[in-house]
Amino acid sequence: MEDDGAKSSPAVHPALAPLSYLLGSWKGEGEVGFPTINSFSYGEQLQFSHSGKPVMAYTQKTWKLNSGEPMHAESGYWRPKPDGTIEVVIAQSTGLVEVQKGTYNAEEKVIKLQTELVGNATKVKEITRVFKLVDGELSYEVQMATNQNSLQPHLKASLKRL
Ligand code: HEM
Repeated sequence: MEDDGAKSSPAVHPALAPLSYLLGSWKGEGEVGFPTINSFSYGEQLQFSHSGKPVMAYTQKTWKLNSGEPMHAESGYWRPKPDGTIEVVIAQSTGLVEVQKGTYNAEEKVIKLQTELVGNATKVKEITRVFKLVDGELSYEVQMATNQNSLQPHLKASLKRL
């Protein structure tokens, strides 16, 4: 077999230990809403992985629940710091890019992120993301502000470990 030089299953870096509960694949359903759109349900799968470095890779994809049609997708990198702060970069399939900063609480398993920078966005001014682990399910809420509407919910989802 060809050796790509990477270790196949490196130890989790100590910086990732407080968030290691995220590592792996998650799948579930969510609900989209906003004052300008008709709410509907979507399916979602996401994955957190690592290569032994102090950073987690994140990939996500969604689909329309009733047809399976692919929808929004995004990927990025999560960088937790030992002081309880975290920095996340995300590239969205729509072309929008985000730099998010926030905090994590390792005991309560809550991560709160808010916009440091949104780039290449025509409408979006601000994005907040809150992730929680409740009874083994990973749930999140995404709020956004646009040039027309103040900060309010756009996404809410709950995912089970695959
Ligand atoms: C942080 C991630 C996301 C951002 C920043 C975002 C941003 C936006 C924006 C700016 C709009 C237009 C709203 C308006 O014109 O007032 C929109 C609409 C919409 N979003 Fe999202 N979105 C995100 C994730 C998602 C996801 C995951 C889905 C579905 C699975 C989704 C589905 C939709 C739909 C169906 C619309 C209405 C139709 C359209 O404008 O394309 N969005 N979103």
